[in-house]
Amino acid sequence: MGYLHSRHEALAKAMAPYTVLLSSGFPQCRNYPDNTYPFRPASHFLYLAGWSAPGSYFLLHNGQAHLFLPPYTIDDVVWSGPGESTQEAARRSECTVHCTDELADFLHTQGVRPESICALPLPCEAQNESFEPLLGRSPSLGHELDRKLALALVELRLHADEQAQAELRVACELTVRAHLEGLKALKAPKEGKTEYDIAQAMLKVVNGCGGYVSFNPIISTSGERLHQIKLGAALVPDRLLLVDFGAESSSGWAGDITNTWPVSGRFSQRQAQIYNLVLEAHRSCVEALAIGVDYAQVHRRAVEVFAEGLDKLGILHGGTIEEYLNSNVVSLFFPHGVGHLMGLDVHDMEDLGDLAGYAPGRERSTLFGWKSLRLNRNLEAGMVVTIEPGLYFIPELFQAPQFMETVDKYVDMQIVGPYFEEVHGVRIERDYMVSETGSVLLTPDMPTTIEEIEQFMARA
Ligand code: GLY
Repeated sequence: MGYLHSRHEALAKAMAPYTVLLSSGFPQCRNYPDNTYPFRPASHFLYLAGWSAPGSYFLLHNGQAHLFLPPYTIDDVVWSGPGESTQEAARRSECTVHCTDELADFLHTQGVRPESICALPLPCEAQNESFEPLLGRSPSLGHELDRKLALALVELRLHADEQAQAELRVACELTVRAHLEGLKALKAPKEGKTEYDIAQAMLKVVNGCGGYVSFNPIISTSGERLHQIKLGAALVPDRLLLVDFGAESSSGWAGDITNTWPVSGRFSQRQAQIYNLVLEAHRSCVEALAIGVDYAQVHRRAVEVFAEGLDKLGILHGGTIEEYLNSNVVSLFFPHGVGHLMGLDVHDMEDLGDLAGYAPGRERSTLFGWKSLRLNRNLEAGMVVTIEPGLYFIPELFQAPQFMETVDKYVDMQIVGPYFEEVHGVRIERDYMVSETGSVLLTPDMPTTIEEIEQFMARA
């Protein structure tokens, strides 16, 4: 029995007596219908049926898994080549294979009523109309049956099975290799180097083995702009370069790590202070990872380390650690969550809103910083998470009226001043799988301490 078959069995058990119907989705249009972004099947479909053509459907009915593939016309053959053979599709998907032309009749002859079919919305709203002739409605997480399916898939995908673990290791290894090439490109002598040079070196690794990126790369000397994807700035020697880049393996699994490197090869004193503080928070969070631990407390641990460290540097003043924590002042320097789930999606299953990231009964905070925490569950064996604390110096935050009182009370703007220009932003992110022993690092062999990075950059 193959790994897909085990997934089909587990889902069938959770969803009996209902019928499950998932679409692989369709290519997204770039600027006109024939010019599309590269096609990638929707992740829930991919999890159950593997990589299939656009417009395919996965059906789970009476415990049996079926794959419906779109018919190939002679024009398709001319423009795209012959599609997968039925035998090949059946072998790799572990499903009985049919043609999508037969789907409606199949449901009819099997006596499947539209009201007993569960489906999930595709990430692109317009594409959900493809379900209407079969369901008489669009899939929606507000629909009781669809929500039941979403929760069943969350339960399965939250825990990486053996195959998922193997695939995630491939994606993480590719991600590390790309970062190493990025670091080499940073230290290589070249006139007029820009962020593009680093991106080019990293993308070459990923594209070179049939992979892709798991999200738009963030390669920026303005690390305080958390997700700035615009590239092109010059790599000037006194700046830090923040590189948040993840590979997607050729079968669709994600990696995601962030490094912050000194363009000159050496950290300045202030850069080193902040880098070491972020690294301390990172290590403290990793020490906390274990089965049963509340991930929100892992985030809190990073906040505590930052409160103490920023107080020692004199950046925070005028309060006790408890007062800093209660005032939420640390979120002005750390305005995002400490990490997220990772799997087939870099933020795994975020297409389901917070159904995967938040345990039942838990809701997003409305507090600045905390509202961006994407994972709030007790950890379980097999969950794959990122740990990515960061410290940022975002000038606008310290002038925003809503934070003025907190800034006046607890931030020493004289001391913090030079950090805006000299540091900008530092984030250190690695990927971990929760295990019986605490956690397993999926992205080893990456220079991480200041000494390791400086030595790597100094080597010829
Ligand atoms: N590493 C990019 C993200 O987590 O969104």
